Amino acid sequence: MNNRVVSNRGRNGVVGTQNRRNLVRAQAAKKPKQRNIFEGKRPWVELVDGKPVNGPDLSCVVDGVKFPNPFVIGSGPPGTNYHVMKKAFDEGWGGVIAKTVTLDSSKVINVTPRYARMKSSSNQKEVIGWENIELVSDRPFEKMMAEFKRLKDEYPDRVLIASIMEEYNKDAWEELIGRCEECGVDIFELNFSCPHGMPERRMGAAMGQDCDLLEEVCGWVNDAANIPVWAKMTPNITDITNPGKVALDAGLEGLAAINTIQSVMGVNLDTLRPEPCVEGYSTPGGYSSKAVKPIALAKVMSLATMIKEKYNGGKTLSGIGGVETGNDAVEFMLLGCDTVQVCTGVMIHGYPLVQNLCAEVQEFMTQHDFKSIDDFRGASLPFFTSHTHLVQLQREAAEAKKAAKVGLKSDAEWTGDGFTSETESMVSN
Ligand SMILES: Cc1cc2nc3c(=O)[nH]c(=O)nc-3n(C[C@H](O)[C@H](O)[C@H](O)COP(=O)(O)O)c2cc1C
Repeated sequence: MNNRVVSNRGRNGVVGTQNRRNLVRAQAAKKPKQRNIFEGKRPWVELVDGKPVNGPDLSCVVDGVKFPNPFVIGSGPPGTNYHVMKKAFDEGWGGVIAKTVTLDSSKVINVTPRYARMKSSSNQKEVIGWENIELVSDRPFEKMMAEFKRLKDEYPDRVLIASIMEEYNKDAWEELIGRCEECGVDIFELNFSCPHGMPERRMGAAMGQDCDLLEEVCGWVNDAANIPVWAKMTPNITDITNPGKVALDAGLEGLAAINTIQSVMGVNLDTLRPEPCVEGYSTPGGYSSKAVKPIALAKVMSLATMIKEKYNGGKTLSGIGGVETGNDAVEFMLLGCDTVQVCTGVMIHGYPLVQNLCAEVQEFMTQHDFKSIDDFRGASLPFFTSHTHLVQLQREAAEAKKAAKVGLKSDAEWTGDGFTSETESMVSN
């Protein structure tokens, strides 16, 4: 058995044996874990194979794939190679989305520096925003495939998600899908959302913003894939539900949102050059971390509402953007997310963060007596409405208050339980 429990798509072979699994677990158990930087400051829970050793169950089944907990490494530096992805599994992440791969990595040339931070004005140690001008994976495709296979051999029960991106070329997408599936990955995430670099080749956000292109590419992917597929959406668009619908109508199982928001981090007032500065020049990048959470929540709310209304909840949603605490993650789940991804938070706080995230979600569940994530997923979604409706609700509330002040119309209206407030309602001072 691997982590797949039910799947609406076929499966190309199962890897690993019980013995191998036990051996790998024993080896993992021997390895010293990284220090949790929040030790003594935030709740913490020990995770074995991604499952908390005590407290409420956090496991979930998404598109037929079983996750020990809903926390997934978002595509980016924390999923760039075998070593870091292994680290993520060892520390307990429910799943890992590898850094986006393309067939020909020789076209991907990164620059340094490629990051710039926005810090809190009251605490210079606190990072609130993060810009990157990093491209997709610059590692050779064959190497990444060998590493996917090795990870799935060693961690058959853990969820490995391949983030993939290609040009507008059906053969290339089909080859990419076939090669990744051969390595045993569990889910695909289609990167239709990278805002920098790749649009120059009509990839990433350039594809995700063009609904005609998107329809065709999602159709190719849907026909070729034998495992579930999520489309990762760009927030750099007027209405994110339009491309979302296109991807789901093509037959894909789910959506992920958001990728980074197009940004210019700032200008150095001494040199007058923009940041991050490469040989005196810069280029707009993608913004992430805490500062983007409200924007991510708004996009997630729109997508979740669309999924509920148009697909009767039959499609899935993975939330991303500025998550650093269990409470952040709970907010995404309350708005309808099945899984929650973290990218920049791991770059800042390290892989053990997952132990805090799980413990904090468990605390929330205990406080509300929720037994599983299903008990509260989407629970806050019904409380969004139009502004017109808010005005109407407020008018009705004011009228009700006014009516209550008038007091009783006849002595027959006095009640036992409301007696003192009924008395109060007729006092003038
Ligand atoms: C340095 C960096 C590199 C990233 N690379 C990718 C990538 O290769 N593919 C992708 O789909 N998203 C990539 N992302 C976007 C993240 O996966 C995520 O969507 C975004 O950063 C918002 O989440 P966060 O605030 O948790 O980082 C990258 C983000 C950062 C910060």
